[in-house]
Amino acid sequence: MDSIVVTGGRELSGEIPIAGAKNACLTLMPATILSEEPLTLTNAPRLSDIKTMTQLLESLGAEAASMQEGQVLTLSSHNLDNHIADYDIVRKMRASNLVLGPMLARLGHAVVSLPGGCAIGARPMDLHIFGLEKLGAEIELKDGYLHAKAPRGLKGAEIELAFASVGATENILMASTLAKGTTVIRNAAREPEIVDLADCLRKMGAQIEGDGTSEIVIQGVDRLHGATHPVVTDRIELGTYMLAPAIAGGEVECLGGKISLVESFCQKLDAAGIHVEETAKGLKVARRNGRVSAVDVTTEPFPGFPTDLQAQMMAMLCTAEGTSTLHETIFENRFMHAPELTRMGANIEVHGGTATVHGVEKLKGAPVMATDLRASVSLILAGLAAEGETIVSRVYHLDRGYEKVVRKLTSVGAKVERVRE
Ligand code: EPZ
Repeated sequence: MDSIVVTGGRELSGEIPIAGAKNACLTLMPATILSEEPLTLTNAPRLSDIKTMTQLLESLGAEAASMQEGQVLTLSSHNLDNHIADYDIVRKMRASNLVLGPMLARLGHAVVSLPGGCAIGARPMDLHIFGLEKLGAEIELKDGYLHAKAPRGLKGAEIELAFASVGATENILMASTLAKGTTVIRNAAREPEIVDLADCLRKMGAQIEGDGTSEIVIQGVDRLHGATHPVVTDRIELGTYMLAPAIAGGEVECLGGKISLVESFCQKLDAAGIHVEETAKGLKVARRNGRVSAVDVTTEPFPGFPTDLQAQMMAMLCTAEGTSTLHETIFENRFMHAPELTRMGANIEVHGGTATVHGVEKLKGAPVMATDLRASVSLILAGLAAEGETIVSRVYHLDRGYEKVVRKLTSVGAKVERVRE
C-alpha cells in the first residue's frame, strides 16, 4: 500500500486546477441506464470511484468508452442484459446504489446489494426505498439484496423525505423522469450535484423544475434520448485546496472555483481570517495575517457547511488562535481523523457528534493513517505546516476522490511525495 510523505514548512504560491465533481459524476453515470442512446460526460474526474462505477455499469451490460485519459466518458446502455448489481462491486462504493432508480424506471426490475456500512456510518437506504415505493415499486430485502420490481411501471407521486438525503433524492429524481404523471419531491436535497443531474436529465428530454430548492417537480415522459454534458466543478476538491494556503501560508488560485459552490464554507474561512477573491479564472485564497482564528462549524445539508469539508476544516483549526467546536450532524462517525491529528500534537476532544479543538502553535510531523476519503486529505493538509515529515499511510482512500494530489500540491511549492511500501 502506498504512503504519502509531506514535509512541512513551505509557503505555497501558484494555481491548482479543480476537477469535475466525483459526487456529480457518480450520479450522472447511472443516468445512462434511463436511455437507449449514449450519454457523453466531459470534464469527468479520473478517480478510482469512477472506474468502479464504470465496472458496475458494464456488469449490467452497458458499454463504456473513455477518451482523453478518462476525462471524456461515453456510456451506452442500449443492451442491458443483467439487472443484478453485485455485492462485490457495491460493497466497495455506496454510490453503486444509484443504479436502483434508473433500472426500475427502464427495466421494471432490479436486484441491488445493500452497500453495507462504511467507516463513517451505517448509511441505510430506507429513504431511497420509501421514495421508490411511493412511485409504485415493490421492494423486498432478501439475503442482503434489495429485490425491486415495478410490474405496472412507475407512477408519479408526492414524496416527502424525512431527511434531505442526497442519494435518495437522486434515485427518486432519476426514476420519476420515466414515471407516468407528475412527481413532487419535498424536502429534496439541494446540493449542486442534484442541479447538475437535473441539467443533464433535461438535456436528455426530462421535464424537471425546482432542482436546487427543497421541492422538485418532475413530469414523467415516455423515453429519454442521449446527450453530452460537462460534469460540474468539484466543490469538495475546491474547498480542500482552498485550505492549503490557509494552513501553509502564501496564496493559491483554485482554477474553476466559484464562490456559489462553497458559500457557507467561505463564510467560515472569512471568520477565520482567510481572504477569498473570485477572479476570472477561479478563487484566489490567502491568509490575512500570520495565524487563523478559531471558528465554530456545524455540518448541514446544502447550502449549509458541507460534511465532506469537516475533516479538512479541522486540520486548519488545529493551529488556530483559540478554541473551535465542530458539530457533525450528517454522519455518526466522522471524526476518525481526530486521533490521527492528535498524534501530530493537536489538542482535540471528541464527545459524540462534537469535536472541540484547542488551537496549538504548531503540529509535529508523524506517521498517521488514513481511515476514509476526506480524513486522508485532512492529514495531508495538516502536514503542510507541521514541523518535519508526516507519513500518511493507506492512501488508497485518497485515490477514490482526489486525482493527482501530489502533482497539484507540489506545483504550488509543497514538498509532497508518494512512496510505494
Ligand atoms: C452523498 O452521500 C455523498 N456521496 C457523500 O460524500 C456526502 O457526504 C453525503 O451525500 C452528504 O452530503 C455521493 O454523492 C456519492 P445522504 P449519500 O443520503 O447520498 C442518512 C464523500 O466523501 N440516510 O445525504 O449517501 C445517512 O446514513 C461522500 O464524497 C438515511 O438514514 O448521503 C447519512 O447519515 C461521503 N437513510 C445521512 O442520511 C437513507 O435512506 C446523509 O446521507 C439515506 C441516507
